[in-house]
Amino acid sequence: MNDQPTLSQRADALEEKMSRELDYIVIKSRLYSMAEGDMSPPPNAAALMAANPNARVLMGDDPRLPQMPEKPTLMDFFKYRFGPAAHLLQSARHAVKGGLSEKMVLACLLHDISTIGFIRGDHGYWGAQLVEPYVDEEVTWAIRAHQVLRFYPDPSVGYEYPQSYIKTFGADYRPDPYIEEDYQRMRNHKWYMSGRMITVHDIYSFDPNVHVELEEFTDIIGRNFRQPKEGLGFDNSPVAHMWRAMIRPAKYL
Ligand SMILES: [Fe+2]
Ligand SMILES: [Fe+2]
Repeated sequence: MNDQPTLSQRADALEEKMSRELDYIVIKSRLYSMAEGDMSPPPNAAALMAANPNARVLMGDDPRLPQMPEKPTLMDFFKYRFGPAAHLLQSARHAVKGGLSEKMVLACLLHDISTIGFIRGDHGYWGAQLVEPYVDEEVTWAIRAHQVLRFYPDPSVGYEYPQSYIKTFGADYRPDPYIEEDYQRMRNHKWYMSGRMITVHDIYSFDPNVHVELEEFTDIIGRNFRQPKEGLGFDNSPVAHMWRAMIRPAKYL
């Protein structure tokens, strides 16, 4: 008698092995699918589980991402979740050299955290909301404003409409009406110049050989960012869920 498995037995065994190995199923949030231009219905979790008996939809830590500490700090998000932060680090150092106050250096350090860690569109608004419970109100205001003010020159501080925007968005691009309306409000606000200062130090044409370490700003963060003792995401603040979304971006529910 031949003990060799048949082709179909081998295929069955392979399938069984694969389903044992696939022990979690990722169902993307609608936002991610739409960002791919994908309007199709989400994959059916029940059907996927039926095909992979050992699999469960992802509810815990994502094995594909770096493990985060139980009580993550702002520094941990820079290390384990945010994309390259050279632009923020160099802007913050530029702000130090420009003699800005510590809290405004922090604003420069954090002004694009939404772009590098969360959501791009309206990144100033999202970024401001992320840090609102932990920083001075003026820092939040300035982070929100910088996104808007970037589109409007201010000759009094030598700020011109960015050449990069002409290149990136086209010479005929005009900001959305809600941006224009916010600009009108922001330019008369008492903290206008704080938002403006972020745009002045929002530098992209820096020396690629200059390397700035996050640790250069440890003390400024320590003095100006009220790190919750429970960790960002677990302090029951109104934005804790937003930080948790970065910790576990593919959590099913
Ligand atoms: Fe920005
Ligand atoms: Fe920026």
